[in-house]
Amino acid sequence: MQNTSKTWPLNAIVYQIYPRSFQDSNNDGVGDLQGIISRLQYLADLGINTVWLSPIYPSPMVDFGYDVADYCDIDPVYGTLDDFKELLAECHKHDIKLLMDLIPNHTSTQHKWFLESKKSKKNAFRDYYIWKNAHPGSGGVPNNWLSCFGGSGWEFDAETGQYYLHSFAKEQADLNWRNPAVVKEMLNVLRFWLDLGIDGFRVDVPEWMIKDDKFRDEPENPDYKPGPQSDPYQQLIHKYTHAQKEYLEIVKQFIEVLEEYEHKFMVTEVWSPSEQMIKVYNEIERDFFAPFNFFIITHPWEARIHRQVIDHYDSRVTHVYTPTYVLGSHDKSRTATRIGHAQLRVAALLLFTLRGIPFIYYGEEIGMEDTLIPPEKVHDPFEKNIPGMGLGRDPERTPMQWDNKIFAGFSEHEPWLPVNDNYRQVNVEKLTGDDESLHALYKELIAMRQNSEALLTGKYSSWDTGVDDIFAYTRHAGSEVILVILNYSNKPHKITLPFRKGKLLLDSHGIIEKGTDMLLYNLVVPANNGYLVNI
Ligand code: GLC
Repeated sequence: MQNTSKTWPLNAIVYQIYPRSFQDSNNDGVGDLQGIISRLQYLADLGINTVWLSPIYPSPMVDFGYDVADYCDIDPVYGTLDDFKELLAECHKHDIKLLMDLIPNHTSTQHKWFLESKKSKKNAFRDYYIWKNAHPGSGGVPNNWLSCFGGSGWEFDAETGQYYLHSFAKEQADLNWRNPAVVKEMLNVLRFWLDLGIDGFRVDVPEWMIKDDKFRDEPENPDYKPGPQSDPYQQLIHKYTHAQKEYLEIVKQFIEVLEEYEHKFMVTEVWSPSEQMIKVYNEIERDFFAPFNFFIITHPWEARIHRQVIDHYDSRVTHVYTPTYVLGSHDKSRTATRIGHAQLRVAALLLFTLRGIPFIYYGEEIGMEDTLIPPEKVHDPFEKNIPGMGLGRDPERTPMQWDNKIFAGFSEHEPWLPVNDNYRQVNVEKLTGDDESLHALYKELIAMRQNSEALLTGKYSSWDTGVDDIFAYTRHAGSEVILVILNYSNKPHKITLPFRKGKLLLDSHGIIEKGTDMLLYNLVVPANNGYLVNI
């Protein structure tokens, strides 16, 4: 049966905050929880009803919080547990749900479990991590497994004479999810935050949680071409370390914990291709669960390709599931940099009119761009380990641009990453005062989506337009049918659609007046433009 309810999480509009870079309240150059509290009204005004916070747990910050030293506390740079409780209460007062980032695959090597684990082979925590002897033949690393951040995935510990596994930085040791004690600990971490009243989790790299128990070498990738732009992690096919099917059994246990509570949501990071992602839905089968859909980021910005990928996804993620669409994140280049400013309005129309929860990365609503980071200011471990290949993620993590004052109103102190030079033109104060800004378009689209059964949950169907550069689809619920027409190119195109006429709901550039009767036969769509039409 088609789900037509407009309740959360189906009506979620998720805004991802990278806490270090959102708002600094104590002028130390790093964002914090009180800073976020001071900006909640801004988010509520935009129409946001869900915030996902990248990690705020105590951490040595090698990977900026994705190296957790304590799962049940707050890093002092962000505030205290009391600040967190205040943030949560304030979010709820603003009708905003709060999702925490859960990082189950690895802990910091400064976590007390790891500090114990490395004390001796007999330590009670030894088995919390993945320790192996040197390879009997070579005397070197146990096998060829790689770290996503470059080099071997194994690090030697001279004190106990064994190697531990780290799928990311060497300061992020992988937990041993085949050990029931680890499972139990982590389920209690979930309960700790759910008991405080949070609304759910975004789960970090769950596909790495389970590895081959025989520790077999991974096969070479025949398509890999070494070169200055090739990520060395791609030299192997990650047959034994990535997306082993048993990892879903662990996700199911997370889901069971969520079911001990009411109205919670969980979204997991999944980088697998479409078919595997569909399997994840089929296995978990809950409408309050979804894997991230990064296809818009990972595919070229081309109407024809988007149509294919979205048709396939939409037909497989049926109405019993909760689809998602992500336009930007803290791991990928910003949308403005990826696709260019001219297409940002088309991208906004796409994100808010598809059948799936939209995820907005902070600053995308004002069209923030990647920032050039000089080598001496690099913080990201990925860039530090594999410099100069464009893999670094600092460029998309720079401070939120609030106004045209010093440091863009983010802080009065020099921020941890430089503010983008364009902050005098691209900032919240300027754009919220302008009815024709990208921000105004985001706000309008969010409100439109929340008030439209067709846009929230209606059936999606794409249509031939006769032009490769134009993507057109309808969203349809009851008698409400909304036609979306998106021109992905910088040229006007004349299209043919199987509809005669409609009333304009929205022109991405506000040129044609709302309510205008539109003849849809031989319609000319201006360059970089999009229309929503009621038919
Ligand atoms: C995820 C995070 C990324 C982090 C990695 C390791 O991909 O999004 O930022 O570096 O996991 O935790």
